[in-house]
Amino acid sequence: MLRTILLGPPGAGKGTQADRIVEKYNVPHISTGDIFRANIKNGTELGKKAQEYMNKGELVPDDLVVEIATDRLMQDDCKEHGFLLDGFPRTVYQAEKLDEFLAGQGLKLDTVIDLEVAEDVLMKRLTGRRVCKACGASYHIVNVPPKQEGICDKCGGELFQRADDNEETAKNRIDVYNNETAPLVDYYEKAGNIAKIDGAAPLEETFASIVSALGE
Ligand code: AP5
Ligand code: MG
Repeated sequence: MLRTILLGPPGAGKGTQADRIVEKYNVPHISTGDIFRANIKNGTELGKKAQEYMNKGELVPDDLVVEIATDRLMQDDCKEHGFLLDGFPRTVYQAEKLDEFLAGQGLKLDTVIDLEVAEDVLMKRLTGRRVCKACGASYHIVNVPPKQEGICDKCGGELFQRADDNEETAKNRIDVYNNETAPLVDYYEKAGNIAKIDGAAPLEETFASIVSALGE
C-alpha cells in the first residue's frame, strides 16, 4: 500500500518513473494529464474544456481538476492499493483540497517524491518525446529511442508528438510550473514529508533513489 505524489516540472520523468513504481508497488497510477488526454481523444465535454488550456500550456481550472481527481481516488482500487498521483496537485489550492479529502477519509500521505531537473534538460526532453498512439508508451528520440523510428517497441503502434510538446508551449508549461506548482515543494517540506530526488540521473538510478525514499 502506497499513497504518494510525484511532483516535478514538465519532462521531469514523472510518467517514466510512474511505470516503474506501479510495477514494483502494484499501486494505481493517476495522471490527471492522462485523464484529460483520454477525454480529448474520446471527444467528451470534459475533453473539450481541458483542451483549450492544455494546448496553450496553461492549467485547467482548479475546481474541475479537483473533482476529477477526488472522484478517481474514491474508486475501489485506490481503497485497496492506495495511489500514485502524477501531475496532481499542481497548485496550493489543489494540495489543500487533497489534504481535506484525505483527512475526511482518515488517510495520510507517504513521502512525496520531488523530481528535480534543470530547465535546459527539460526542454530537450519535452521536444524530443514521442508517445505511442496505441498503448501510450513514451520514448525520446535521443535518450530512449525506439528500435525502429516512429514505431512502438511494445505494440508496433505509431509514435506521435504530444500537442503541447512544441518549443513555445513547452516553455510556457515550465513557466507555469515555476509560478504555480513549485510552491508545493515548500508546502510539503513544511508538512515534513518530501524527498528531493535527482531526476537528471539515468532512469534506473533515479528509480533506485525513489525506492530508497519510499522503502521496499
Ligand atoms: P501532464 O500530462 O501532467 O504533463 P506535465 O506535468 O507537463 O509532465 P509531462 O507528462 O510532460 O512530463 P513527465 O514528468 O511525465 O515526463 P516523462 O516521464 O514523460 O499535464 C499536461 C497538461 O494537462 C498541463 O499542462 C495542464 O494543462 C493539464 N493538467 C494536468 N494536470 C493538471 C492539474 N492538476 N491542474 C491543472 N491542469 C492540469 O519524460 C519526458 C521525456 O524525457 C520522455 O521522452 C522520457 O523518455 C525522457 N526521460 C525521462 N526520464 C529520463 C531520464 N532519467 N533520462 C533521460 N531521459 C528521460
Ligand atoms: Mg507525464
